[in-house]
Amino acid sequence: MSDLETAKQESRVFSPPAAFVANANISGMDAYNALCAEAEKDYEGFWGRLARENLQWHKPFTKVLDESNAPNYKWFEDGLLNVSYNCLDVHLKNGNADKVALIFESDAGDVSKISYKDLHEKVCKFANGLKSRGIKKGDRVVIYMPMSVEGVVAMQACARIGATHSVVFGGFSAKSLQERIVDVGAVAVITADEQARGGKHLPLKSIVDEALALGDCEKIKDVIIYKRTGGNINFVAGRDLWMHELVAPQSNVCEPEWVSAEHPLFILYTSGSTGKPKGVQHSSGGYLLWSLLTMKWTFDIKPTDVFWCTADIGWVTGHSYITYGPLAAGATEIVFEGIPTYPNAGRFWDMIQKHKATIFYTAPTAIRSLIKAADGDAKIHPKQYDLSSLRLLGSVGEPINPEAWMWYYKHIGGEKCPIADTFWQTETGGHMISPLPGVTPMVPGSCTLPLPGIMTAIVDETGHDLPNGQGGILVVKKPWPSMIRTIWGDNERFKKSYFPDELGGTMYLAGDGAIRNKDTGYFTITGRIDDVLNVSGHRMGTMEIESALVANPLVAEAAVVGKPDDTTGEAICAFVVLKRSRPTGDEAKQIATELRNWVAKEIGPIAKPKEIRFGDNLPKTRSGKIMRRLLRVLAKGEEITQDISTLENPAILEQLKQAQ
Ligand code: WT7
Repeated sequence: MSDLETAKQESRVFSPPAAFVANANISGMDAYNALCAEAEKDYEGFWGRLARENLQWHKPFTKVLDESNAPNYKWFEDGLLNVSYNCLDVHLKNGNADKVALIFESDAGDVSKISYKDLHEKVCKFANGLKSRGIKKGDRVVIYMPMSVEGVVAMQACARIGATHSVVFGGFSAKSLQERIVDVGAVAVITADEQARGGKHLPLKSIVDEALALGDCEKIKDVIIYKRTGGNINFVAGRDLWMHELVAPQSNVCEPEWVSAEHPLFILYTSGSTGKPKGVQHSSGGYLLWSLLTMKWTFDIKPTDVFWCTADIGWVTGHSYITYGPLAAGATEIVFEGIPTYPNAGRFWDMIQKHKATIFYTAPTAIRSLIKAADGDAKIHPKQYDLSSLRLLGSVGEPINPEAWMWYYKHIGGEKCPIADTFWQTETGGHMISPLPGVTPMVPGSCTLPLPGIMTAIVDETGHDLPNGQGGILVVKKPWPSMIRTIWGDNERFKKSYFPDELGGTMYLAGDGAIRNKDTGYFTITGRIDDVLNVSGHRMGTMEIESALVANPLVAEAAVVGKPDDTTGEAICAFVVLKRSRPTGDEAKQIATELRNWVAKEIGPIAKPKEIRFGDNLPKTRSGKIMRRLLRVLAKGEEITQDISTLENPAILEQLKQAQ
């Protein structure tokens, strides 16, 4: 059955428990409807009220939304604030100085707790350290760090001085890192000697060295190194400095830099349908407002909660729901260095039990792989752990299939925790469509309804509304505060990618297909409508992987498609034509391995194709266009039943059935 059919047929409904509803921040459908109605009636009034009530402004804004330069919308622009002040100082003033902000658990299982006061001090000292190096408001700083307290500190310290950070996930290669450093025009890189994951030490600093040696990085004046493992590194005098040495002499007082709400807080690179990753630029005020509000609304955050988002700070989920949202909400949160399968696949459940986590937010891929592990080893089955502290679960990054949803609901949530299946994107800054735990009856596999103020709709290719029950293109009809502001350095690409003329130029195009249920109006995401793949919740452009493959001297041509995968959601399948004759047998296997390693080196291990298939050619139309829809069928291992009359070289299909 296709996802679309599943979505249409899923009829199980799970209502939030009455006790949850009674205590929820948004309690009951009437409360949700009232907020939606308020937004409907006076859109700017709604957002203005929320921004005034939820954020501390150094200077209040006088105008909520400036549409004069649409789609480069501006929110609260003449208001001044500081994001780090809103995440830290406000709690010191509210008597929460000694409250635990971060519970850090290392890969090896060591635990340390950092209070709001301690975190504030660390951020101020590091911010002063950055300033002492001449780093100032508007400068860009690349952060290439492991999951750590120091990673959060680095981001917050940039925010404190008004420097715009660009975090690069620690799994990206030297080449990917260099491309981002160059594109963003960074003046400094903050990194660590190594990262500890799954009992192994993996290099970071040496990858930074390699990236900088690739050239065009002359703007980089400083490489600041957090000593994590004490592993050997090459130290470049005059450029490299230890974080602890930089911080030691600094004052713990650092007056925040008051910036316009529109000041770029961060730029985060993500994949699009063309080869080059896009630097998604986010604001300070609008972004922070939504990461905080969604903590209150979607995650129903309360002062007593222990919140755990398992994402990495290298992805937007880690930005919004580790570094910014939970701290702005004054929550206690868990920061985890390691991986879900070390020392065994019970690690998440063990940590929930140990830290009495109340809210747990993870990705369907993790759930699916832990289901497999629990089925294979009763000792690490969640029933062996006390998970009774949990009251709310979340899912993010990719569609959650109903089977995984049911397992999560039953075995992790004990049939008492609502599940927030949160649909959103790097570009949206925070949740867009999600059940609210004290409001929405849940249907497995559906992200249900948009959050109040988020005007999502489903339209056809010309931008006309489609009725419920008919699948189409997911759009957002009005700007919202945490939306992408531009693509760094390429505003034209921003306009073309997200506000295409075909849709009238005013609707935000998410890049996903969706369908609304005929009766409930619930949304189900049916997958990307562009050449973007979602592998384990990681977003990757097919063209990016193709470019990496054809950069290999052996490769003449390559086409990459996604194929459904039980664990990772989608898997990367590459069809490759070599410059030499088509390899077979052991030789094919050996070249496939070589190409996989090549892609890991070019982009990062997450982009390694699961399957590589060699052909003398690719299936093409007479005009030379690669017929990707046929490749998708072949990747799935299905017989081709479609019309292939326009195919120039049908004989090629047989060759491409064989995977390496
Ligand atoms: C793409 C965005 C959301 C932050 C992490 C990923 C897919 C995301 C869901 C969901 C179905 C989802 C979409 C989207 N996606 N959440 N709950 N149900 N699909 O951010 O890397 O920018 O990827 O992830 O396809 O467009 P991202």
